[in-house]
Amino acid sequence: MEQETSRPLGLQMCPFSPMLEAGLQDLFEVVRWDLLDADAQIAFLRERGGSVRAVATGGHIGCSTELMEALPALGIIAINGVGVDKVDLAEAARRGVAVTNTPDVLTADVADLAVGLTIDLLRGIAQSDRFVRDGRWPGGDRPLARRVSGCRFGIVGLGRIGRATAERLAVFGPVHYTGRSPKDAPYTFEPDLLALARWADVLVLTCPANAQTYRIIDADVLDAIGPGSFLVNVARGSVIDEAALLTAIAQGRIAGAALDVFESEPHVPEAAILSDKLVLTPHIASATAECRKAMADIVLGNLQAHLAGQPLLTPVN
Ligand code: 8YV
Repeated sequence: MEQETSRPLGLQMCPFSPMLEAGLQDLFEVVRWDLLDADAQIAFLRERGGSVRAVATGGHIGCSTELMEALPALGIIAINGVGVDKVDLAEAARRGVAVTNTPDVLTADVADLAVGLTIDLLRGIAQSDRFVRDGRWPGGDRPLARRVSGCRFGIVGLGRIGRATAERLAVFGPVHYTGRSPKDAPYTFEPDLLALARWADVLVLTCPANAQTYRIIDADVLDAIGPGSFLVNVARGSVIDEAALLTAIAQGRIAGAALDVFESEPHVPEAAILSDKLVLTPHIASATAECRKAMADIVLGNLQAHLAGQPLLTPVN
């Protein structure tokens, strides 16, 4: 095992942009947790777990309660993302561990992708690209697609991202939304998810992942969407019962779905990969250079503030 350096010890849970990784190296002696195998992780915790001051992690990775327990000097979990579903916030608070995320700076990018996925899903852009590249065009035209303009859009979760998505989709057609309570917004609130799913041509998921939203898109909601309508997910994989979705797709009970997030990402079920009713992207909603730079600045700002004993920029708990 390495000797401690003068920099505090920090754990990095997943790959980040070069800029964020360089910034972390400036602040910490960084250990890449994701690159250690199970035995090396146990050995590390035994020998140096007591010195770890910070964890930097992705929204979709978080920090398990088990790991928190093994890091008695941990002071902060800095999430490079807005989602806090992979950290037990109450447990972190109980242990005096601060948790930060990167709100606001990714809102526009995630909403942009929700719109892009919606258009792709209805118009078949990615499929048309494959069609041309595969040399299939001379054999005949593609089947007709579905018009986006005039569609009815149902937003599940009118938080920051849901609102930005609604603003963009309202250019195309009427927007209704559901959530825990009505918001001050120029869209119609529908308290019943099933009713929203029945009404919408495209149901867009922008809600946080939590116990209340776990697999809210189940077989009943999928049947309410129905064979002529579509589903878009830029929230979390856990919001959808993925097996039920794949069954509904295979049986033609919904028209199609566009998914940026998956239950066991980066692993995507074979049935999803084989289906031409699905548009699949590898969790890219916040993956623009501009957004990731802004996110990195916040992660590093929070870590710097924590080390200096200053107020955090974006505390969650
Ligand atoms: C990121 C995310 O892809 O914001 C979130 O919660 O899941 C995404 O923005 C991820 O956290 C990058 O580390």
